[in-house]
Amino acid sequence: MAILLGTISNLFTSIFFIVLLGSCNAAPTSEYSVVKFGAKPDGKSDSTGAFTKAWQSACSSNSPATVYVPKGRYLLNAIVFSGPCKNKITFRIDGTLWAPTDYRALGNSGYWILFIKVNDLQVYGGNLDAKGAGFWACRKSGKSCPVGARSITFNWVNNLVVSDLTSINSQLSHLVINSCNNVLVRNVKAIAPDQSPNTDGIHVQNSNGITITGSTLQTGDDCISIADATFNLFMSTIKCGPGHGVSIGSLGKEMNEKGVQNVTLTNSVFTGSDNGVRIKTWARPSKGFVKNILFQNLIMNNVENPIIIDQNYCPNNQGCPNQSSGVKISQVTYKNIRGTSATAEAVTFDCSPSSPCQGITLQDINLKYMNKAATSSCKNIGGTSVGTLVPESCL
Ligand SMILES: *[C@@H]1O[C@H](CO)[C@@H](O)[C@H](O)[C@H]1NC(C)=O
Ligand SMILES: *[C@@H]1O[C@H](CO)[C@@H](O)[C@H](O)[C@H]1NC(C)=O
Repeated sequence: MAILLGTISNLFTSIFFIVLLGSCNAAPTSEYSVVKFGAKPDGKSDSTGAFTKAWQSACSSNSPATVYVPKGRYLLNAIVFSGPCKNKITFRIDGTLWAPTDYRALGNSGYWILFIKVNDLQVYGGNLDAKGAGFWACRKSGKSCPVGARSITFNWVNNLVVSDLTSINSQLSHLVINSCNNVLVRNVKAIAPDQSPNTDGIHVQNSNGITITGSTLQTGDDCISIADATFNLFMSTIKCGPGHGVSIGSLGKEMNEKGVQNVTLTNSVFTGSDNGVRIKTWARPSKGFVKNILFQNLIMNNVENPIIIDQNYCPNNQGCPNQSSGVKISQVTYKNIRGTSATAEAVTFDCSPSSPCQGITLQDINLKYMNKAATSSCKNIGGTSVGTLVPESCL
């Protein structure tokens, strides 16, 4: 009897745990398929309203919610997914989001797909096709054009994962992280032709705690551009090129800037890009700074300026009274960077006369130009050289 009772009580314990486990996992995720809200995967019917409705339902769900986009092409106009939401949201895309063929349809809003004030958001999968060619042609023709749209933007989003997303032919930047904390961008592809203007791959600004990893960026502008008030940015296994490279800047256009601090780029490859790693500032008075930067384990394949600091940026020579940047650049390390330069000068440090670069370290650099050692040039800079250096250090 005692044994039987024991067994029964074990049985009850087991049932109790099963129920408990069930309720821990609870959070049964509710799924909101855009198709159920009327989206049509035909590439022709405007699905903007259906996406908005699916989002609103997911966002007000009492349990974690998934917005699901099945296979197919969904025509979307400019769309805002705004929070705060009641719960975590996953946006799972198996299909392609398709911009209107007429570039003017996205108008002057500056965005195509915009997430705003959403916390705990994951965006998985999907293709974005912004059909930017018409917009680029308009700009090249010198006609008056709308301001253009960034393809996917996150404003004030904390705890964000963007993964396995492919964006092609954005009008302007492909992916923008603005005023966000704690972000992981993983396995993202951004692709636009070499000559498409201002099609940055990933643009980060005013954000803290960002990881970008395993991404392929082939664009007409910076592969990754890092603007003011970016702190604790870690980038690894990036494939860049064509494009303008990984750029910190342009900084120092304004007098009051918050600076860029703690940026690492590691284990990455640049192919045929205009720059490798670049720090670029306006030649204007500014309180900005760039501090504690590490560029390491990088391969350069036929890159025009593999390593460059340019503090003399002043398009059309306007607004640079002293042609001297106030941005203070310090503690920048370049370590284990090898490969080929497409120009004779592979290392260019053109720092500010009024705030010289300090604490610059070159360690184990091997950059060749046409099978010979490339050259380097230094202005207004202090630092140290360690290990084997080709070109010879000018520090
Ligand atoms: C930069 O990193 C250091 C060391 O991890 C940390 O102490 C510091 O707070 C970081 N700076 C910013 C602005 O987050
Ligand atoms: C102008 O630049 C020079 C160095 O070229 C610097 O010594 C001077 O302080 C600068 N003046 C101002 C107002 O920034």
